[in-house]
Amino acid sequence: MGKHLTSIGDLENWEVEKIFEYAEEFLERGGNGELKGRVVINVFFENSTRTRSSFEMAAKKLGAEVINLDVERSSTSKGETLFDTAANLDAMGPDAIVVRHRWAGVPELLSKYLRHSVIINGGDGAHQHPTQALLDLFTLRRKWGDVKGKKIAIVGDIRNSRVANSDIELLTRFGVEVTLVGPPQFLPQLPLPKSYKLEEVLDKVDGVIALRTQTERHHSPTFASLHDFAVLYQINGEKLKGRSIVILHPGPVNRNVELSDEVVEGENSLILEQVKNGVAVRMGILKYLLEG
Ligand code: CP
Repeated sequence: MGKHLTSIGDLENWEVEKIFEYAEEFLERGGNGELKGRVVINVFFENSTRTRSSFEMAAKKLGAEVINLDVERSSTSKGETLFDTAANLDAMGPDAIVVRHRWAGVPELLSKYLRHSVIINGGDGAHQHPTQALLDLFTLRRKWGDVKGKKIAIVGDIRNSRVANSDIELLTRFGVEVTLVGPPQFLPQLPLPKSYKLEEVLDKVDGVIALRTQTERHHSPTFASLHDFAVLYQINGEKLKGRSIVILHPGPVNRNVELSDEVVEGENSLILEQVKNGVAVRMGILKYLLEG
């Protein structure tokens, strides 16, 4: 059994470099049956477009078999606990289980119950999304080369974002200077530069990671409306004003809330590069975790 990936802190920088080395190779020449005979199970208790299909594609490109557990039709609906579900899947002997859950900490808890399979966190509540952080850093490195000293603003609902948690840790470890931007209720208590004023920060950064307002994680309304949020914090053509700032977003984008259509589709946008790179990075992650 290999190493679990429940949080970005599970990987040291040299391991991130190894995964990126593999990912570069996979982008160049695709997979070559590296994981033939291996089995990956996707267990997504929360909706996903990118992460689930990206893991499925990554595993298949490496020659592995993929099972997507249909959670709605699984025995969790008959009262089976999460731990029993995981232990029973593990007893079938898959090599990896990719899990997403709305509760923070579920992948790490499950990892302690498994005997055979590696757990990979596909996103847990507002806690961690390590594979997204890896593909974000990989995308920035492909754009810029060395990222040390580059300045990135993370804009939006940072407090409720597992992507932001993982990105902040990984990007700062690799020397990126991160500024957090949003209204006070969206900013976490972290020892990083913060600003409530987007325009001021846009003058000083090389890139922006925009985030969706995660209303599903708000216990009470935090903004009068998404329109009010957009007036202050939407990145649009007028606010970019010809600046060459790169724009990233983990998806799903709420178009014309955090990013205008023209920015999503504009020449500064790396959003679809992130998605493309996500497959290669997840191929690298699977190869590294299952084969070393
Ligand atoms: N970035 C991301 O986690 O997207 P999905 O929710 O579609 O998987």
